Amino acid sequence: MSVCTDVSGACEGSLACSTCHVIVMDMEYYNKLEDPTDEENDMLDLAFGLTETSRLGCQIVASPELDGIRLAIPAATRNFAVDGYVPKPH
Ligand code: FES
Repeated sequence: MSVCTDVSGACEGSLACSTCHVIVMDMEYYNKLEDPTDEENDMLDLAFGLTETSRLGCQIVASPELDGIRLAIPAATRNFAVDGYVPKPH
């Protein structure tokens, strides 16, 4: 189970969006996380308000050592599905 169950996750954890972007508030906890994969970093590059401790919430796996982790939700997110984007046919 990922840590952030209340954060929007438009792609349901398949690393195809950045709507689950969270900011880890304490470096101590950030350093406990597995390093992000290249795919996660690619999606983080698209996240609104990227910080040094940004992660995709769907990629953070809950574990006892993360007990007490504090996460902030960015002020905005980029979600083409709800931002009025209408895909045009090819
Ligand atoms: S829900 Fe899309 S990458 Fe996390």
